[in-house]
Amino acid sequence: MIDKLIRETRSFRSFERVKISKKELEEVIETARYSSSARNAQCIRYVLISDDEICSQVFPHTKWAGFINWNPTKEESPTGYILMLNEKKVGVSETLFNFDMGIASQNIMLKLRDMKYGGCIIGAYNKPVIKDLLEISDDYDLGVLIAIGKPKETVEIIDTTSDTRYFRSNGIHYVPKLRRADLIIKNI
Ligand SMILES: Cc1cc2nc3c(=O)[nH]c(=O)nc-3n(C[C@H](O)[C@H](O)[C@H](O)COP(=O)(O)O)c2cc1C
Repeated sequence: MIDKLIRETRSFRSFERVKISKKELEEVIETARYSSSARNAQCIRYVLISDDEICSQVFPHTKWAGFINWNPTKEESPTGYILMLNEKKVGVSETLFNFDMGIASQNIMLKLRDMKYGGCIIGAYNKPVIKDLLEISDDYDLGVLIAIGKPKETVEIIDTTSDTRYFRSNGIHYVPKLRRADLIIKNI
């Protein structure tokens, strides 16, 4: 079960015009709040976005699939976002925030997939613009933005021995993953 869910939890970048509700986004955070965190300090805070107008204002400030000459159109753009923040007063270093955010963001991606949505973790977005747009106070540092929607594309995993660059061919997005044998340095 867990293997299947992890395999199916891919980065999706093309979405149907199906809305995710505020309640569903809250359900995602209800799962994410069980994530492990350094010192159990729990510095991560969330901005949940499902409003159509705000989604369309956020979209132009996001960058997609840097390896390929392809971008989602407005018609296939995300219908929701989760912005992850570090509440500064909790006092967690940037390194540990990034660690905690990695754990929580993957749990969010898994939960979204289990709910038949799909996401894409977006690190490449215009932080100053989004900070202003969403009126985020200086009490928070911005982390990744998770784009959300009902996936409209096929993403396939293929084996690779060296070249890890993803590519698109005939409308299918291929993601090369290193083989198990290439990952294990020792098994003693
Ligand atoms: C920290 C992080 C930042 C990422 N930033 C972006 C991004 O800005 N734009 C994008 O299209 N994909 C982004 N991705 C998605 C990766 O490109 C994706 O995980 C990778 O191609 C492997 O595909 P998979 O998630 O389906 O295994 C990011 C992923 C991570 C973990």
